[in-house]
Amino acid sequence: MQSNNHPLSEEGHTTRNIDPCILVIFGATGDLTSRKLAPALYNLGKDGLLPPNFACVGFARREKTHEEFRQDVKKDISTFSRIKPIDEGFWQNFHEQIFYHQSEFDDDAGYVRLASFLKQLDSQFATRANRVFYLSVQPKYFPMIIEKLKKHGMIYDPHDHTKWSRVIIEKPFGHDLASAAALQAQISENLDESQTYRIDHYLGKETVQNLLVFRFANSIFESLWNYKHIDHVQITVAEEIGIGSRGNFFEEEGLLRDIVQNHMMQLLSHVAMEPPVNLSASGIRDEKVKVLQSVRPLTEADFKEWVVRGQYGPGFINGQSAAGYRQEKDVHKDSPIETFLAMRLFIDNWRWAGVPFYLRGGKRLPKRGTEIAIIFKDAPGVLFQQREHPNLPNVLAMRIQPDEGIAMRINCKVPGPSSPIQPVKMDFRYGSYFGQTPPEAYERLIWECILGDSTLFARSDEVSESWSILTPVLEYWAAHPPKHFPNYPCGSWGPKEADEMIAKDGRSWRIL
Ligand SMILES: NC(=O)c1ccc[n+]([C@@H]2O[C@H](COP(=O)([O-])OP(=O)(O)OC[C@H]3O[C@@H](n4cnc5c(N)ncnc54)[C@H](OP(=O)(O)O)[C@@H]3O)[C@@H](O)[C@H]2O)c1
Repeated sequence: MQSNNHPLSEEGHTTRNIDPCILVIFGATGDLTSRKLAPALYNLGKDGLLPPNFACVGFARREKTHEEFRQDVKKDISTFSRIKPIDEGFWQNFHEQIFYHQSEFDDDAGYVRLASFLKQLDSQFATRANRVFYLSVQPKYFPMIIEKLKKHGMIYDPHDHTKWSRVIIEKPFGHDLASAAALQAQISENLDESQTYRIDHYLGKETVQNLLVFRFANSIFESLWNYKHIDHVQITVAEEIGIGSRGNFFEEEGLLRDIVQNHMMQLLSHVAMEPPVNLSASGIRDEKVKVLQSVRPLTEADFKEWVVRGQYGPGFINGQSAAGYRQEKDVHKDSPIETFLAMRLFIDNWRWAGVPFYLRGGKRLPKRGTEIAIIFKDAPGVLFQQREHPNLPNVLAMRIQPDEGIAMRINCKVPGPSSPIQPVKMDFRYGSYFGQTPPEAYERLIWECILGDSTLFARSDEVSESWSILTPVLEYWAAHPPKHFPNYPCGSWGPKEADEMIAKDGRSWRIL
């Protein structure tokens, strides 16, 4: 029943069979379910992508009837779905497939009742005992829930070909290298790697998937994709928003753990990987892991010179005053937590020898934008560089969000006799070209898990390699608390040290 077709292959879209199943969401009354998971399920259903034999059970602590839960889900869909307004005709049928199960995560009796309820739903919906368990809960509960599911017969033998069970695990996966390894060890006592689907929602984004198509289905770029032609790479994840009501969470995490260890490392490995031997999950993930293994370990000199941390202070966003991080709810008044990071990495392999990768991520920056920019080497200067306006290097910018698309900067002659050269942009936008906004990442990821394709989920060794690169930074920071926080105002592009860092290499950050 394991699918061999990859989502990126055209064949995959047309031939993959989807098994009947029940999806159980742990943490079904939480924020993530409201904003992302419930709308994702509705949109998958509307697009005809859920199996015809399907049911969903929400698992949480508070008392609720099935009907109350359905009403809450409907409200969430109406508020957060990308397709609005809600289609009442579709909802009338769909809501009958949604149920609620009240229990504490640590209560064995609750799992006994759950197992029997799921069997009852199997008879009602012909779901053939197949299960997806989505753990939208705090990480401390992951091992306990998996252990109880196994104990009560809901995690099957991975070699059982009559039925399957899969578990989607939300991020964060670990707090550093040691805790990720400990978490992995606990989980793997009860769950096989083939049953484990670690979410990094960036992998569900169309534009991230398109990176592989762009690189390996277009011969013109791949031949330039190396140290001979590329000067450097910039990866930016900029957020305009602050931490909102997630102060408690962010005080534990910080930006490195929240964004860099997972999303940015995924972008880095996609942009730098070698062509995989095939499009299977292991083919692609093997190559991504090799990139992470090739990242040059950071030394103490790097922590001082090539890693910059920042924290926002009060400032202005879009003309409105905005509070500093230390004034946010649930944040300590002298918090050392970083809301900005810039760093330089090298990938010590044949393709990328000597090419710096500059990473920059932050909150409360002037605008929201995630992009990977490939900055090519200058053309030889013999013909056009002496002019008043020298030609700028070619840049290929892949926008992950918003305005998903790809832009190429090329130099052009301005019409007229004086012939000045001007950089122009060739711009491809998903929305305008394909006439629709891409589906939400969570739609794609839930669908892939039901199909049994783990390509778009992080494998255990990917997670640990990423932690291996970044844990030394966290340790250095813990030993050297920041002296000058806050060091950038809301609405700016981060601390001046980030500009100084890249300027030492004679380069500058791109303006998004
Ligand atoms: N929210 C986001 O934008 C976001 C983004 C990325 C990743 N994540 C990750 O997703 C996970 C869930 O986040 P969230 O923001 O949705 O959390 P949340 O709003 O705090 O929701 C937690 C959920 O877990 C349930 N719960 C907590 N303790 C329980 C217990 N002992 N027994 C039974 N149910 C219990 C709660 O039920 P009751 O409400 O009934 O108590 C609620 O449904 C976390 O790992 C988070 O890091 C969240």
